[in-house]
Amino acid sequence: MNNIFAVVLAAGQGTRMKSKLYKVLHPVCGKPMVEHVVDNIRTIDVKRIVTIVGHGAEMVKEYLGDKSEYVLQAEQLGTGHAVQQAEALLGSLEGTTLVVCGDTPLIRPETLQSLYEFHQQHNAKATILTAVADNPFGYGRIIRNALGQVEQIVEQKDASEEQKFVKEINTGTYCFDNKALFEALKQVKNDNAQGEFYLPDVIEILKQQGEIVTAYATDDFDEILGVNDRVALSQAEEIMRSRINEKHMRNGVTIINPLNTHISIEAVIGRDTIIKPGVVIEGNTIIGEDCIIGPNTQITDSRIGDRTTVTNSVVSTSTVGEDTAIGPFAHLRPESSLGNHVKIGNFVEVKKSTLGNDTKVSHLSYIGDAEVGNDVNIGCGSITVNYDGKNKHKTIIEDNVFVGCNSNLVAPVKIGAGSFIAAGSTITKEVPEDALAIARARQENKLDYAKKLK
Ligand code: UD1
Ligand code: CA
Repeated sequence: MNNIFAVVLAAGQGTRMKSKLYKVLHPVCGKPMVEHVVDNIRTIDVKRIVTIVGHGAEMVKEYLGDKSEYVLQAEQLGTGHAVQQAEALLGSLEGTTLVVCGDTPLIRPETLQSLYEFHQQHNAKATILTAVADNPFGYGRIIRNALGQVEQIVEQKDASEEQKFVKEINTGTYCFDNKALFEALKQVKNDNAQGEFYLPDVIEILKQQGEIVTAYATDDFDEILGVNDRVALSQAEEIMRSRINEKHMRNGVTIINPLNTHISIEAVIGRDTIIKPGVVIEGNTIIGEDCIIGPNTQITDSRIGDRTTVTNSVVSTSTVGEDTAIGPFAHLRPESSLGNHVKIGNFVEVKKSTLGNDTKVSHLSYIGDAEVGNDVNIGCGSITVNYDGKNKHKTIIEDNVFVGCNSNLVAPVKIGAGSFIAAGSTITKEVPEDALAIARARQENKLDYAKKLK
């Protein structure tokens, strides 16, 4: 059994991004590029993954956590120098090492697997993943000899006019015999246009030693896009987005307009759910079957039960039951939890509250820091007054309560089961079970007085 190791290059600055955020942390479909790369590698049977970090090292480590080991490349002297930093960890081991750049988030696990198998079959010391690009500008070119064998890789900035016509490019992904890699790296020099130690130079070194060097060409150029600037970032986003949307459609989800539907890579969506235009589904969101989501809806890190509809609304870090209707124009803020058959109507905001089954908040309300039972009806314009300027307080509304329109429930307060709050009340004291609470000025009618005012 051959050991497979992986080295992920993620120390470069990413100057061309013109960003405060470190390049490999720029998200594609909501996930940092380098995390896509590491997650893809993790799906194949690798023994160890070593990520080379430099700029933004602490942040990269924080994102990837224990998915990888780390080595610091304190000064970024080139991709060859970067890989060399892993020598202390990997140098002495027998096996095969995959090297992948942290800025190529679209390479599929299947391709890495095929690259590895191709490398094994050819008994090669090095195998380059290559592709043919319509516009090869910026990439290293694969230079082959008269027999079609790979001789070397020449960087854009070092290429002769003739070499610049070559359309076969280096994707920045390779498979190496581990020991041969670290031996060859010792011979890499920085006498090139950029004054850097290039990893691709290892190819020429091995070739000159008479070792077998091969290239595995993928026919899917989309896959190997290297993200160096924001234009490429948007292209990567587009490609990843359509891959994700296609996966859901093939699984039985209707997406009315995939071009403007953005679904995170982790999201799970049940069959026969319909996603209308303008929907953004982020993070670890799970949506049930037969739901209707959208149009123009954003759902983040939330769980939505079967047959629920969410229309023109925003749902964040919340749980929603089955057969529930949200929106249009509702906002569920974090830590909200709704039961089944709930209705949250237009211009309703719910924050850090639980609502039981069959409860309805249909129009223009704010429910914050509240525990609301089953079968509660909250009338139009009613709010929980949860904040006194310093602290947040809790409102408890038990089962079967009817809150009349435009009521203020001044927290902390408890509204007992089965009670009824008269419209326009400002409730400051506990309401006992089954009571009618009226807390508003009494109306007085002065007969014929209006005529005097005119
Ligand atoms: C590199 C390849 C090029 C290939 C292209 C594919 C080299 C010299 N060139 O060019 O042949 O066609 O990728 O996308 O390898 N990095 C470090 N430490 C460093 C320098 C870079 O960790 O000192 C990391 C970067 O963070 C990045 C990756 O290595 O993730 C590639 O570096 P980048 O500068 O983007 O190389 P390219 O110019 O794109
Ligand atoms: Ca790059």
